[in-house]
Amino acid sequence: MSSLAKRVSFISAPGGVGKTKLALLLTGYLAKQNKKVLFIDLDPTAGASLLLLDETIFENEIEKGHSLADLIDDYMDNKSIDIRDYIIEEPVYIYNYPFELLLPGEKLMDLMDRLWNSVEPGNIFKEILEKSGINAYYDYVVIDTIPFFIPKYTALSIYVSSTVFIPLRPSLVDLKRTLIMVKNRILKLNTEQTYCIFNQVPTRVQSAEYILVNRKVLNRNLDLPKSTIEEYALLEKYYDKLASRVRFLPIFLKYLLAIERFPPFRRGFKKLELYSEQLIKDEKEIARKNVSEVLEEMIKVL
Ligand SMILES: Nc1ncnc2c1ncn2[C@@H]1O[C@H](COP(=O)(O)OP(=O)(O)OP(=O)(O)O)[C@@H](O)[C@H]1O
Ligand SMILES: [Mg+2]
Repeated sequence: MSSLAKRVSFISAPGGVGKTKLALLLTGYLAKQNKKVLFIDLDPTAGASLLLLDETIFENEIEKGHSLADLIDDYMDNKSIDIRDYIIEEPVYIYNYPFELLLPGEKLMDLMDRLWNSVEPGNIFKEILEKSGINAYYDYVVIDTIPFFIPKYTALSIYVSSTVFIPLRPSLVDLKRTLIMVKNRILKLNTEQTYCIFNQVPTRVQSAEYILVNRKVLNRNLDLPKSTIEEYALLEKYYDKLASRVRFLPIFLKYLLAIERFPPFRRGFKKLELYSEQLIKDEKEIARKNVSEVLEEMIKVL
């Protein structure tokens, strides 16, 4: 185990861009390589946690005081803290590979407000994580946050992270909102260690989005309709503005069909029946390849 845990956070300006999905995929990938991974669900709605756990288990763990909110609370009450007392007891897996999970806790919003109003919120959050022993117990800490609409979550996760990923869809709105977020002074982004990654990229049509994230296609000078060229020009303008401030991973995650979406969580298997077996096999193969290529690029920059 390395002496310092690598800390990776997923932030975004708009919601629903794939933070949770990418954070879980990365966690599974690292766990598969026998790394010790702590997943911190820094989302008061517990999006990731509720994907991973049955509700009864979730409630039980909350009852036992296993959460980030409890960890922050105890630290602020000057109690001694050890991360192992706050992670969930129930083993949690992605594809049978185990990792550890820190739930947000029902009081997370209050605790985050308290933390944010303290003198040095960033330093205190860092100290909480370090004093609880994350460096001793984990190789990686993966932090999943909420969108930048409530900046304190974004700001604090950036502060404690060694690498930051910003998923976004290749749309004008996402590019503009992400640019506004990246320019924000409160965030203090270390742009050397911050990477945008396009997600939900439609690949079945030669759309402007696809071309934007796949420069090779553009360079071949395809004969495109005028509307697509105009749409592309606008997207490119904002892409260039953003790319002048922050790096982009040279790869993107496609828009995956329902059948391709994995890791396979407990819910949502009904749609499976709608697809033929061959299609399922083909689509899964394509998706796996795309997902593993994306993960390999992400690992390179950690
Ligand atoms: N590449 C993709 N292809 C298809 N669906 C995707 C893809 N990435 C994410 N999704 C789906 O889009 C939805 C939003 O993704 P996710 O929950 O990971 O986003 P998020 O950024 O964590 O959202 P929030 O801001 O609400 O926390 C989910 O239903 C997820 O399964
Ligand atoms: Mg999420």
